[in-house]
Amino acid sequence: MQAIILVGGEGLRLRPLTCNIPKPMVPVVNKPFLEHMFDNLKKHNINEIILAICYLPDHIKRHFGDGGDFGITLTYAVEKSPLGTGGAVKNAEGLLDDTFVVFNGDIFTDLDLTSMIAYHKEKKAKATIALTPVEDPTAYGVVELNPQSKVKCFIEKPSWERVTTNLINAGTYVLEPEVLDLIPSDTYCMLERGLFPDMVEQGVPFYGYPSNAYWIDIGNPADYLKLHHDILMGKAMARFPGKSMADDIWTESGCNIHPAAKIIGPLVIGRDCTIEKGVRISGPCVIGDKCIVRHGATIDEAILWQNVKLGKDTTIRNSVIGNNSVIGDSTWITDSSIVSDDSRIGSGNKLEHGIRIWPGSIIEDNAISF
Ligand code: GTP
Repeated sequence: MQAIILVGGEGLRLRPLTCNIPKPMVPVVNKPFLEHMFDNLKKHNINEIILAICYLPDHIKRHFGDGGDFGITLTYAVEKSPLGTGGAVKNAEGLLDDTFVVFNGDIFTDLDLTSMIAYHKEKKAKATIALTPVEDPTAYGVVELNPQSKVKCFIEKPSWERVTTNLINAGTYVLEPEVLDLIPSDTYCMLERGLFPDMVEQGVPFYGYPSNAYWIDIGNPADYLKLHHDILMGKAMARFPGKSMADDIWTESGCNIHPAAKIIGPLVIGRDCTIEKGVRISGPCVIGDKCIVRHGATIDEAILWQNVKLGKDTTIRNSVIGNNSVIGDSTWITDSSIVSDDSRIGSGNKLEHGIRIWPGSIIEDNAISF
């Protein structure tokens, strides 16, 4: 079976992490997010994948090529300008030959696709949508079902008075090729806000597939951090690079970790990192390739991308530091803050309250101070 992954969005909510790279390439436990999606597809013998791309397409193509290195066959459906989730699927029509699966490219899930596809066939559905329960459905697209699990209606971001179910659109669909006839060519169109409600109104056999599988949308920084937390704490299953060095510490080759560094896992460290004496790390944490953590620094539930340099006595807590950034001595970065790529944060600064630092920023010593 073929799958289309929709990866053309700009990922505005995840900025500044997505200023230089598209959201599907953002690293999750030291490998691009999309590779985790491929892992789940391969588990269900879906090896033929079409990427519907638009924003920063070369980034994705350069890394994945024809998919051979990743054990899949990849083709690309490129949009000149964004066509929306429906238009993007229509744009891939020439590459499709039978029943296919569509995924939003920012969903991490261990949904049982094999059983969802079997359910779709058994119901003789034209479309089947995966549904996941959430505590607060008011921020999502809610999907109401009838007792036979047929979709009754879609309600986008309902007020609490209108909430009748906690099941939301999980961004995964099984579709029959006939559905493509309902989508106009070269026209902006959204599946969830245009095509799907119209299909329900026209009486097309459209079923919901509720599931309690792990599910998260990494569309914003808090959920990006949460996914790391959940993977490292064993709530979400994922494969990541590195060998287990101790109970819950994984490292790649070339790391120099001082024996007097105090490390409490879970922790994943990439290649060629240096962790100096007196460093304290409290997991869950991820440290990318070629990072240097100087004497006395503290890293607490944080994520460092590649080639980050942390100065002496610096504290990074519950925050993300992008590629090639240099953080001076005795600086605090806490509370879901983000320092994006190639930034220079001087010594003695205090960045907190979810502050977002854009790529290439320079903050002088003691500019945002205690
Ligand atoms: P935000 O800008 O933060 O809303 O992110 P987004 O647009 O990247 O993601 P959103 O949650 O709105 O979209 C869900 C999925 O559909 C994401 O994986 C997007 O990459 C993808 N997507 C959204 N719009 C398009 C589009 O016009 N074309 C393609 N190919 N994919 C799209």
